[in-house]
Amino acid sequence: MPCTVVTGAFWGDEGKGKIISYLALKDQLDVCVRTGSVNAAHTVWYQGKRYSLHMVPAAFVNGKCRLLIGAGANVHIPQFLKEVEATNVKNRIGIDQQASIIEEKHSIQDKTRAHLKGIGTTGWGVGPAIEERASRTAKLAKDIPELQPYLTDVTKEVNNAIDNGKKVLLEGVQGLMLSLFHGTYPYVTSRDTSASAICSEAGVGPTKVDDVLIVFKAFMTRVGGGPLPGELPREEAIKRRWFEISATGRERRTAPFNFELAKKAVMINSATQAAVTKLDILYPQCKGAKTYDALPGEAKQFINEIEKQVGIPVMLIGTGPEALDIIDRRK
Ligand code: IMP
Ligand code: MG
Repeated sequence: MPCTVVTGAFWGDEGKGKIISYLALKDQLDVCVRTGSVNAAHTVWYQGKRYSLHMVPAAFVNGKCRLLIGAGANVHIPQFLKEVEATNVKNRIGIDQQASIIEEKHSIQDKTRAHLKGIGTTGWGVGPAIEERASRTAKLAKDIPELQPYLTDVTKEVNNAIDNGKKVLLEGVQGLMLSLFHGTYPYVTSRDTSASAICSEAGVGPTKVDDVLIVFKAFMTRVGGGPLPGELPREEAIKRRWFEISATGRERRTAPFNFELAKKAVMINSATQAAVTKLDILYPQCKGAKTYDALPGEAKQFINEIEKQVGIPVMLIGTGPEALDIIDRRK
């Protein structure tokens, strides 16, 4: 803080939603800007309820936080309206006039274009919507009657907030290995997912960012096609309790934590600090731990090894699904 970028290290689903919801409450965030599009879901558990957010920023759990969707983002109107209702944030969410719109036809294109089959897209249509934006024929948020009450200049709001010392978080989605530029091309998403791209989508320049918080999961997962170094057979993933189903109902492939990929992700994001989520899945004795000292030796060793190899401190450690199941080593 004051301006922190939260970014994913691997193929998304690292637990950014949980980390952001924690920071929203703990650090009393003033502003949270979401980037990317509807293909990425951030899961937030709060007060016993599960939210799967494809549009609304994960900081919604703090009722005083201004929620914004950046100019670089791509808005799915029905999903946006549905989530605004479910999270009851109508009076504090804004969309940049220049955010682009994803339509039903894009989803159909996503599901029917032959070359996209092997990539295993989420089917929401984000790639085709971004193609249309690049063609300069896309609809923008400002063209849509239902979105008029939400329109704002996010670039002005967020830069003013930073200049006035407010606590601002730029919410990245997906992970570095899905980046159009730096990931496992062509098995990637349709945008850059790095910290720089998150800033660019929000309209904030690099000199205004104080911290880049990179989120690792204690093991790696991937949905869709493409390489996954060290991939485990499905039965082994089930045995280790790493097996997960995505928000869209797809099975996640799994592999152990990879230090080389972690180093690469830290470098390209210029990350200053790290979070590691789901440590309790790797070491069940960690469940619900609130202090580092309470962790078993092998879990501490794992965290030390990450710090040693990637060269930045692990400040936050997830030990359970709820926003507050976290070890906070800052200060
Ligand atoms: P698309 O982004 O829907 O075009 O999908 C391209 C690739 O990125 C596919 O392998 C998807 O499974 C993956 N992908 C896109 N968004 C996410 C995400 O939020 N979490 C995990 N994988 C994602
Ligand atoms: Mg996700």
